[in-house]
Amino acid sequence: MNARPIGVFDSGLGGLTVVNEIKKALPYEDIIYLGDTARVPYGTRSKEVVKKFSLEDAIFLITRKVKCLVIACNTSSALGASEVRKISPVPVFDAISPTVKKVATLSLRKTGVIGTRGTIGSHAYRDAIKKLNAKSKIIELACPLLVPAIEEGETSGQLIRALIRKYLTPLKKEKIDSLILACTHYPIIKKEIKRFMGQGVALIDPAEEIAASLSLYLEEKNLLAPENPKAKRIYFVTDLTSRFIGVAEMFLGERISGSIKKVSL
Ligand code: DGL
Repeated sequence: MNARPIGVFDSGLGGLTVVNEIKKALPYEDIIYLGDTARVPYGTRSKEVVKKFSLEDAIFLITRKVKCLVIACNTSSALGASEVRKISPVPVFDAISPTVKKVATLSLRKTGVIGTRGTIGSHAYRDAIKKLNAKSKIIELACPLLVPAIEEGETSGQLIRALIRKYLTPLKKEKIDSLILACTHYPIIKKEIKRFMGQGVALIDPAEEIAASLSLYLEEKNLLAPENPKAKRIYFVTDLTSRFIGVAEMFLGERISGSIKKVSL
């Protein structure tokens, strides 16, 4: 047993989709979340900057004595995870490792990967999948307009459908059999993506895969928190705007409860 909290960080509030999955899988765990809302987005930035920001996020959580670190942000996972692992005294879970393991179990022919420019430009998903299965065909695609559209609440209807059509038409033509939603924001529009791609394309959500692998790890290592229906959630952000609650609750999928604090890194 280990009652220390799980630390989760993201470039902003999108990582709350990962918190949502962790809460479902591990309801008794205390969670400390850090959203770098003052510096979001990471997806448009250079590798050096994403590395630096990711390290600062990780150090903030490590000093709060978390028992493990979750990199919810796909861009940080792609560009900063190896640096974070170098300095972290606790295990680090990123979005890519459990997701590609899942892909490997599905014995697929052609997999699509969508994400930010940073994630796609790194080829981190492609390279990790190829390591497990050199023959698999991977098609990667950056979809930079999806993040701002979702943050503006465009999660169904004409605008998001037009963007999905614009970005995903080439993947549909390629007849992919699975699609990795390699960005914290995309689970919010899963229904619309499914609608466009059709039932035959399996959608793989890294948020679900992170939660499943974290839960397995904590159980195997006997690090689960004792049963506690009043598990604590603390949300730290680097900027707190008037839109915080609305956007946070959209990603979290429920009313936000727990404390919310603004911090500087
Ligand atoms: N959290 C980022 C990701 O999953 C999306 C938002 C951003 O660009 O910072 O890649």
